Amino acid sequence: MLPSSLPTPRLRDPDSVPVLRWGIVGPGWIAERFVKSLRENTRQQIVAVASRSRERAADFARTWSIPGAFGDVQEMLALDRLDAVYVATPHNHHYPDALKVIEAGKHVLIEKPLALNAREAADLGERARARNLLCMEAMWCDFLPKYDVLSQLLADGALGDVHSLIADHGEHFTIDHRIFNPDLAGGPMLDLGSYLVGLSVKVAGKPKKVIAIGQPAPGGRVNGQTSMLFEHGNGMHAVLNTTLFSNTPCAATIAGRDATLVLPGPFYNPGPFTLTASDGSRTLTFEDPKNRYDQLYHEAIHFAWCVGEGLRESPIRPLQATLDTLSTMDEVRRQIGVRFNEERD
Ligand SMILES: NC(=O)c1ccc[n+]([C@@H]2O[C@H](COP(=O)([O-])OP(=O)(O)OC[C@H]3O[C@@H](n4cnc5c(N)ncnc54)[C@H](OP(=O)(O)O)[C@@H]3O)[C@@H](O)[C@H]2O)c1
Repeated sequence: MLPSSLPTPRLRDPDSVPVLRWGIVGPGWIAERFVKSLRENTRQQIVAVASRSRERAADFARTWSIPGAFGDVQEMLALDRLDAVYVATPHNHHYPDALKVIEAGKHVLIEKPLALNAREAADLGERARARNLLCMEAMWCDFLPKYDVLSQLLADGALGDVHSLIADHGEHFTIDHRIFNPDLAGGPMLDLGSYLVGLSVKVAGKPKKVIAIGQPAPGGRVNGQTSMLFEHGNGMHAVLNTTLFSNTPCAATIAGRDATLVLPGPFYNPGPFTLTASDGSRTLTFEDPKNRYDQLYHEAIHFAWCVGEGLRESPIRPLQATLDTLSTMDEVRRQIGVRFNEERD
């Protein structure tokens, strides 16, 4: 049943969590936004950055006033005064980089997807557990106030039986972007599809049936677009498309018998959504400024809170959610014939 008003987001005060000393691996596009968001919204300390090039690390460190700059991850990990590391390298570097971090005894926050496939992700999870470390996927949307309200609505059954999820994520990239590079696990699935499959798993759990079709990008070196049809255990159908060919609305609609929730594009970013009763009698609107990457800090605050509480599994993004998402994407890739270099014998 539609509630009288929307639930309030359960926000954690950034000043209420332990201040971690962070290192960063991969000073690229998202790392820059992560640092900016942490600097503007939290007291978290970014103490070191590691790149494949000492000069690039030093440039990044200068720009963001970070005290330590390293041309090698292992050198950075030798620091005593380091609590956690944010891995922001391309997808196929997540596993080897995170492995080094775990072996050095540091907590690790890994950009999405946590690893190339469920096998790698499970291995990282087990190794982190064995060393009593937190290993969490930086699926930033899951930590946004907007997704928290969405989670509360789903848990409260506000939509009634959820029968359909329809979502797309298409983005235009220039040909020089790493997404076209087969040696960096290119194609839309891991970059854009993670949000689609992650939402489907969040709403209805791991799908029991997966049907997928794919089409190569020009030149045929990576997948260009993939369409997915899932049947979930609760009967929900998910109809999902991700493409590199052009920009699409990136919207998501979650339809239940009692109400329909519409997330305008980009559905995984901060922004408003509406919940409308099926008889059209009422609409509730969640208002949220569309301030995109400013809200990256929520994932870091949650991570620091988990560390402070001694949690080695995030209650918001537990390893199982990551594994369910990745194993579903593994099946999609199996059906469309996409294997990454690291998966070949
Ligand atoms: N949360 C989000 O909204 C969001 C948005 C975009 C991307 N992401 C995720 O973040 C990760 C990084 O994406 P990005 O767009 O930030 O990538 P990017 O701009 O290419 O940065 C990745 C960095 O990784 C380092 N790197 C290490 N090995 C590399 C290699 N073999 N080739 C290229 N770079 C290498 C590079 O730094 P050095 O050359 O200095 O070593 C590079 O700057 C991806 O997993 C992606 O899915 C998340």
